Amino acid sequence: MLTERSTLAQFLIEERRRHPGSSGELNALILDVALACKAISRRIASGGLTDLIGKQGAVNVQGEQQQKLDVVSNDIFTRTTEWGGELAGMASEEMDDVYAIPPEFPRGKYLLTFDPLDGSSNIDVNVSVGSIFSIMRAAAPGQDAVAEDFLQPGTEQVAAGYAIYGPSTLLVLTVGRGVHAFTLDPSLGEFFLTSHDIKIPEAAAEFAVNSSRRRFWEPAITRYIDECLQGVGGPREKDFNMRWVASLVAEAHRILTRGGVFMYPWDSQDPEVDGKLRLLYEVNPIGLLIEQAGGLATTGRERVLDVKPTDLHQRVPFIFGSGEEVGRIIRYHAEQDDDPGDSAERVNPLYGLRGLFHVG
Ligand code: AHG
Ligand code: MN
Ligand code: MN
Repeated sequence: MLTERSTLAQFLIEERRRHPGSSGELNALILDVALACKAISRRIASGGLTDLIGKQGAVNVQGEQQQKLDVVSNDIFTRTTEWGGELAGMASEEMDDVYAIPPEFPRGKYLLTFDPLDGSSNIDVNVSVGSIFSIMRAAAPGQDAVAEDFLQPGTEQVAAGYAIYGPSTLLVLTVGRGVHAFTLDPSLGEFFLTSHDIKIPEAAAEFAVNSSRRRFWEPAITRYIDECLQGVGGPREKDFNMRWVASLVAEAHRILTRGGVFMYPWDSQDPEVDGKLRLLYEVNPIGLLIEQAGGLATTGRERVLDVKPTDLHQRVPFIFGSGEEVGRIIRYHAEQDDDPGDSAERVNPLYGLRGLFHVG
């Protein structure tokens, strides 16, 4: 033994022994994903010493500017996981269509979805970024997967996790029995278990939201934030703190560590777009981790893991974190839906006033 701590491989083997019939393919796949994350971590750590910082000059399927590192990280993910025979197909935020396993490799029984580099707009300012992944069962093991096969609700995930590339690199993982964090020892190139069975505190006084979008929010969100901002003298009778990193992985990691609530709610700027964050690559994997850690993850109106996907690149509103706070935000959405006029006026007088402009 190098240390008292388990390596990621030891942890996975011990988990597998709980399922005597299992083939070890899931573990092999997770270890390949972990290898991809180590490779991405190295590229990112080199920063401006390589020519990998900056824009790729292309736009992805979401209409967003790709960074060079988005493309490099996507390639690392596909190359590291395509060969092992565990996958029937994969899908990524950075690829328009399902990625077919190259013909020379066998097809397996799992599907992999991933956001290869989350928070990539933070790369050039050297702020934490990450990778997010989700593993589901293939509808037709051994055959090429098609897009519809990926449209499974988040409850069907077999495993999910993220890597965070911050002051240290961590892999945070669930295989359906709690959430565990592994820290990369860069000298050994090995992940070691550093936090076992992470639990999110029920109560918290810290919120994360991009308030520059306030004018597009629904009354339920404005009501919640306004009450927080009133602090100890307001209805919540306590002072709140605020954070916004603009890296979902960094926000999720903070909330798993010390509690709080994250919101990227529906907003009215583009009513056609149902939220910003992507259900299959971001929301479902983070949602599963949050629930496994005892928190809640919702669109405001529905548990995220129950949403039946209709499109590979579907976006949804996403609110997650400490149970008491998320529960309150769910209630505010319900109260708004039950009585929209009253709730809008009571919470935000401007909302009622704005309605007047439409009269006549
Ligand atoms: P990505 O870099 O994978 O496109 O994701 C960015 C996401 C997410 O990480 C973050 O929570 C959010 O976008 C930030 O949005 P704003 O730029 O609106 O703050
Ligand atoms: Mn992302
Ligand atoms: Mn991304």
